[in-house]
Amino acid sequence: MSISKKLSEEMQRSSWIRKMFVEAERLKKERGADFILDLSLGNPIAEPPDAFLASLKGAVLDSPPGTHRYMNNAGYPETRKAVAALVSEEQGVPITEDHVLMSCGAAGALNVVLKSLLDPGDEVIIFAPFFVEYIFYADNHGGKAKIVESDEEFQPDADRLREAITEKTKAVIINNPNNPTGVIYSVAKMREMAQVLADASAKYGHPIYLLSDEVYRHIVYDDVELPSVFKEYDHSVIVTSFSKDLGLAGERIGYIALSPKIEDIDAMCAACATTNRSLGFVNAPALMQRSIRSCLEARVDLDLYRRNGEVLYEALVKAGFQVVRPTGAFYIFPKVPDPDDVAYCGFLREKGIIVVPGSGFGRPGHIRISYSVERKVAQKAAERFAEIGLATGVKSGA
Ligand SMILES: Cc1ncc(COP(=O)(O)O)c(C=O)c1O
Repeated sequence: MSISKKLSEEMQRSSWIRKMFVEAERLKKERGADFILDLSLGNPIAEPPDAFLASLKGAVLDSPPGTHRYMNNAGYPETRKAVAALVSEEQGVPITEDHVLMSCGAAGALNVVLKSLLDPGDEVIIFAPFFVEYIFYADNHGGKAKIVESDEEFQPDADRLREAITEKTKAVIINNPNNPTGVIYSVAKMREMAQVLADASAKYGHPIYLLSDEVYRHIVYDDVELPSVFKEYDHSVIVTSFSKDLGLAGERIGYIALSPKIEDIDAMCAACATTNRSLGFVNAPALMQRSIRSCLEARVDLDLYRRNGEVLYEALVKAGFQVVRPTGAFYIFPKVPDPDDVAYCGFLREKGIIVVPGSGFGRPGHIRISYSVERKVAQKAAERFAEIGLATGVKSGA
């Protein structure tokens, strides 16, 4: 085999989400598309808002010469300026277009920042349950992911964070609102973490970066305050995209926003532009940069997600599941009655429900339910969870 040994191992361990999705597709053919309720993928189902579609049409029709050429690796200044204004307002900290780099989605943004920061063997702290790709992204750039358990409510634990930091720690990645749990980190928790990071940065004599993945920032259901990482911590970087709030996951458009208080901020911005090029992204898609800049505050219709989340959460609670109520993103992460979450997913599969085992996110004994699905799928799934209750398929004494 010509592919690298490391990659073939990674492919063996490959994402549970993909495995479950492939299994769902197979089962749909075998048992009928109506019977199989696929709640495995976090593919944003809400369509892009009209404001974006109008802007896209305008951008296509208005294409003067030069529109489709290479540009600055950081992206168009006009788009970065518009994004900087949005971030300044959301974070309550003024930034300029010099602190913004347009990226190929949040995934591209994370890879750009990690490549800019990591030396071989540097550690990147990730809270479990986690978005599994973080582990691969750290590894892509010679880093080593170090997992820290979040608490029972899936909030980050500052004491555990303090214990995990070593002189090799270069960055901590958080995801708020969170995939796979649907929780939102509170301002108080963020402040505690920031203090730990500031103390450890002083102790080890180098800044530890806080990378805040905010792809679900606008997919929130309650009137909760999302913390401003720029206010809380100097060495913070926001990595995000329009994949979820504008429904543009396939278009690969996102950005990096860097706190102006980062030491050597100019060098860090220049490093990100360089890695955007050397990683092969070169620059974020031109047409998307031109299309989003006039509709940055447009949003997909959140009502579908909100109602799906409510109906599933209520069904799970009624059925007796231990579950933390989601307030953001489009996932629920209940504890399941069988500690073997992989076996439990097999049991649910027999009942026509496809979900992802918590093991795939570093928290066994749970499942991740994605409610980015058609309304009728969420409704049927809620009914089926109610029928199944806390049954497990494990025979007593077996
Ligand atoms: C937590 C998290 N971060 C990053 C991404 C990747 O986002 P993008 O499509 O913008 O690269 C996803 C996608 O599902 C995600 O759930």
